[in-house]
Amino acid sequence: MEKISLPRPVTRGQVSVEEAIYNRVSRRSFQKQSLHLAQAGQLLWSAGGLGAVGAAGVSRAAPSAGATYPLELYLVAGAVEGLDTGLYYYDYRAHALEMLQQSDLRVRLARASLGQEMVAQAPVSMIMAANYERTTRRYGERGYRYVYMEVGSVSQNIYLQAEALQLATVAVGAFDDAAVKQVLAIEEAPLMIMPVGLK
Ligand SMILES: Cc1cc2nc3c(=O)[nH]c(=O)nc-3n(C[C@H](O)[C@H](O)[C@H](O)COP(=O)(O)O)c2cc1C
Repeated sequence: MEKISLPRPVTRGQVSVEEAIYNRVSRRSFQKQSLHLAQAGQLLWSAGGLGAVGAAGVSRAAPSAGATYPLELYLVAGAVEGLDTGLYYYDYRAHALEMLQQSDLRVRLARASLGQEMVAQAPVSMIMAANYERTTRRYGERGYRYVYMEVGSVSQNIYLQAEALQLATVAVGAFDDAAVKQVLAIEEAPLMIMPVGLK
């Protein structure tokens, strides 16, 4: 499949992590403007991209129980400069996108999110979806709680990265699981949706 390379992520920004923590808040309205591809890429990287090389090898943006990495990241792109409207899979190794569907899914995704309008209005939404097996294979039943914990880490990273980029976002956990899965036509279980746009 053809991959769309994302601009190299920035690892030194204008806003300190303390400022981002202090100012972080859920924001549910967005301006009409599109995101730049670099902004979308930076958000995806903050959620699950590759970090520095350490003693245990290459790290990723968020921790994972036993390094089992059960979460996959999808991008519903409605208005991103330099990117066709559609559904994309984030390949964190290549820091690239793979197109899965070429249509604007925002209205359908908002409907599946119990009518939460901000999902239809945001230029993009990021979806975290779990392959539980990767973690339960090692940890049994306890693996489920580890997966839920991991979504929390990823979500906070997205909140802080959005804040540092002067963007608005909100964690959306209230949705119809089966409906979201159907709209996206994915194998994994969707756990969180984060619409992002300009404040
Ligand atoms: C797991 C989780 C699920 C959430 N689901 C939704 C949601 O479906 N819709 C929504 O508008 N906000 C949702 N929120 C955002 C919370 O309402 C918000 O974080 C809370 O009111 C505190 O406000 P703050 O984030 O601005 O500090 C969710 C937050 C979390 C952590």
